Amino acid sequence: MPLHYQPNHPLLAHNSLGIPARCHTYVEAHTPTQIRAACAHAHTQNLPIFVLGDGTNLVIAADYPGLVLRPRIGGIERLAETANTVDLAIGAGENWHKFVRWTLEQNLHGLENLALIPGSCGAAPVQNIGAYGVELAPRVRWVEYIEIASGQTTRRPAADCQFSYRDSLFKGDLAGKVAITRLALRLQKRFQPQTHYPALAEFLADLPTPPSARQVFQAVCTIRRRKLPDPATTPNAGSFFQNPQILRPHYDQLRQHHPDLPGFPQTDGTIKIPAAWLIDQLGWKGRQQNGIGIHARHALILTNPGHRRGPQVLEFAAQIAAAVRTAYGIDLKIEPHILTA
Ligand code: EPU
Repeated sequence: MPLHYQPNHPLLAHNSLGIPARCHTYVEAHTPTQIRAACAHAHTQNLPIFVLGDGTNLVIAADYPGLVLRPRIGGIERLAETANTVDLAIGAGENWHKFVRWTLEQNLHGLENLALIPGSCGAAPVQNIGAYGVELAPRVRWVEYIEIASGQTTRRPAADCQFSYRDSLFKGDLAGKVAITRLALRLQKRFQPQTHYPALAEFLADLPTPPSARQVFQAVCTIRRRKLPDPATTPNAGSFFQNPQILRPHYDQLRQHHPDLPGFPQTDGTIKIPAAWLIDQLGWKGRQQNGIGIHARHALILTNPGHRRGPQVLEFAAQIAAAVRTAYGIDLKIEPHILTA
C-alpha cells in the first residue's frame, strides 16, 4: 500500500475526545520503511511531525500545522519460549484490546487486568498503561522505535525506558522525537491471578477461588463497561487527570478535615490519592457545562458530547483543577497528551 498524503485533513475521527481540528497533512504508514519515507517527506516540506496512535489519550489543543503520521504496522511474532514464558513482538498499529483477547485465546497470561483499555499497542508503553493493580511495564522486554530526525531504528530494553506511574521516556526526553514501531512482551504460560485491586476483588468475591484467566478478563471488562463511557457514543479520553501523589504530612493534615479521604501508600513514601474522589466530593460528577462535562458514573472522566474545541476543553479542566487546588492544596496533572500547534 503506497503512502497517501492527505492535505488539510480532519482529525475528528482520530481522537476519542471528539475534538474537531485539522492538520496540514495526514498519512498512514504500514511499514518502518514508510515511516522513514514520511519523516523524510516532512523534513523536505519543513513540516513538524506528530505521531498519532488511535487518539484515545489525546487532547488536540489547536489545528496542527504539520504532518500527522499514523503508524499502522501490524503483526504478532513469537520470539522465544521457555517452560514458563513466551516472548512476543507486536506491531505498534495492532489494537490493544484485540491483542489482549488474542493472548487469552493462546493461553498466554499477564494482560487480563489490562483488558478493554482503548488504544493501539504502540501507545501502550508511552503512558505505561495500567488498570486493576497491573501495569504494562513489568511485562515489557523492549520497545523499538524510529528516530524522526535521523530515521535510525533503536531497540531499547525495558530497563532503559524509565517506566513509572503513567509515565516513560517516551513521554519525557523522547516525546515528539520517535515513532514506536514494535514492542516485545514476556507473557506467562501459567495464570497467576492479580485480584487485590478492591473493585476487582469485590466483583470476584462470589466466584470460586482462584478465578480463571477468562473470569478475571470478563470481570475487568464488566467493571469497565459499567463505569466508563464508550468513546464511540460518549466522546472521552479515559481518565482526564493522573492520581496525585502527596507527602505524608499533607495527607495526615487533609485527613483531619476529610476522614474518608482514600490514600494508597507508595514505595517512595508518598500517598496516592484518587483524583476521582476529590472531583466527586466537590460536586463535579455528572455536571455538564456548554457541551463538556464530567461523566455521571465516574468523576475522572471528562466527556465532550458537544464536540467542543481544545481550548474550551482545557478551560473546563482548568476550572476543576483550580477547585481541587483551593479545597485540598493538591495540583492535578492532566493525563492525556496535549497536542499543541
Ligand atoms: N471514586 C470516587 N468517585 C468516582 C469514581 C471513583 O470517589 O466517581 C474514588 C473511589 O474511592 C474509588 C477510587 O476513586 O475507590 C478509585 O477509582 P477507580 O477504581 O475507578 O480508579 P481510578 O483511580 O479513578 C485508575 C486509572 C484508570 C483505571 C482504574 C482501574 C489513573 C489516572 N486512572 O482510575 O485508568 O482503569 O484505575 O484500575 O490512574 C485511564 O488511565 O484512562 C484509566 C481509565
